[in-house]
Amino acid sequence: MNQPFVQRTFRTFATMKINGQHYRTIWVKPGDATTIQIIDQRHLPHQVIIEDLRSTDEFARAIRDMHVRGAPLIGSTAAYGLYISTLSAPGGQEGLAVIRERMEVLRATRPTAIDLQNATERVWLALQSGQSAAERSALALAEANALTEESVDHCRQIGEHGLPLIETISRQKGDKTVNILTHCNAGWIACIDHGTATSPIYAAHDKGIDVHVWVDETRPRNQGARLTAFELLEHGVPHTVITDNAGGHLMQHDQVDLVIVGSDRTTRTGDVANKIGTYLKALAAYDNSVPFYVALPHSSFDWTLEDGLEDIPIEERDPNEVKRIRGWADGKYQEVLLTPEDSPAANFGFDVTPARLVTGLITERGVCSASASGIRSLYPEKEYTV
Ligand code: MRU
Repeated sequence: MNQPFVQRTFRTFATMKINGQHYRTIWVKPGDATTIQIIDQRHLPHQVIIEDLRSTDEFARAIRDMHVRGAPLIGSTAAYGLYISTLSAPGGQEGLAVIRERMEVLRATRPTAIDLQNATERVWLALQSGQSAAERSALALAEANALTEESVDHCRQIGEHGLPLIETISRQKGDKTVNILTHCNAGWIACIDHGTATSPIYAAHDKGIDVHVWVDETRPRNQGARLTAFELLEHGVPHTVITDNAGGHLMQHDQVDLVIVGSDRTTRTGDVANKIGTYLKALAAYDNSVPFYVALPHSSFDWTLEDGLEDIPIEERDPNEVKRIRGWADGKYQEVLLTPEDSPAANFGFDVTPARLVTGLITERGVCSASASGIRSLYPEKEYTV
């Protein structure tokens, strides 16, 4: 097995904690750069289980079966997966062909989150300049580490840029509680650290602003009920888990001051793909004049797409995720059937919220309107045709 000749040790400046201990969602195993470690999210919030990933297939399974999920974390995991894929590849053109094939295996795991494509593209381009197999591995590892560190920085900066939005509402309300609704898990567990949608919330809470979060449970995988609730609880942020259908009612009764969600893919025109149900929250927010913000780093933009509804691929998952529900009972996870055994079910993973329903985008470079011109003002170096 090729050994990389540059090894970076795992650097901890995480602010996110489990039981008071700093964690990230993914890291290179200390002392063993041939193994990547993740928190296997299928077991949260009731068990914290660390999983070792050592082969392309193990990485592909971890992404597809959602041991890891959330756009930035999918990207980072695939980046490390591509690095691990180089370790047993030969040198020369033959080696590049093997690595390319393995990259396609990783890329085929989940279709909606653009971070998967963006991150693997970055690592693929970086490793090309390596002459030997070992050099390619070293370059791939360095790039995977770099994009992971960048992702942490970007999420922290999203918090800094989003904080004034919450501060303003808090001031307007005379320091009364700011109620923020979020959907799915766009927290540190979906990223490497800090989160996207949760980053401004953590920043506000840490600054002493009185915030309370309405947490959509997010059927069918319940990322809100399991993961967002878990991380907010661990960080001491007041929150309440609600059913996915409660948001509209709460907005009609002035119980929501602000909605912040994440994104799996945002077009260069500001259309936002995010977890199924996000669109309905945006509609309810629009009808009730509640500001609806999307927090995302540049890695979650698709610079090639203009029309989100037409062009963003929407993942359809196993209908059994809808028909069955998994929970913790008698000290272990158990799964039960909800529907009649023979009722068919459909499981759309994401929906697209048109830019016109989005108040603004919170990025690592600042806040902009969800429009081609707004996005261009923050990312002028990208190529645009609109
Ligand atoms: O299916 P998932 O759990 O990967 O979906 C995650 C989401 O929809 C998140 O809101 C999105 O990835 C933004 S994460 C910072």
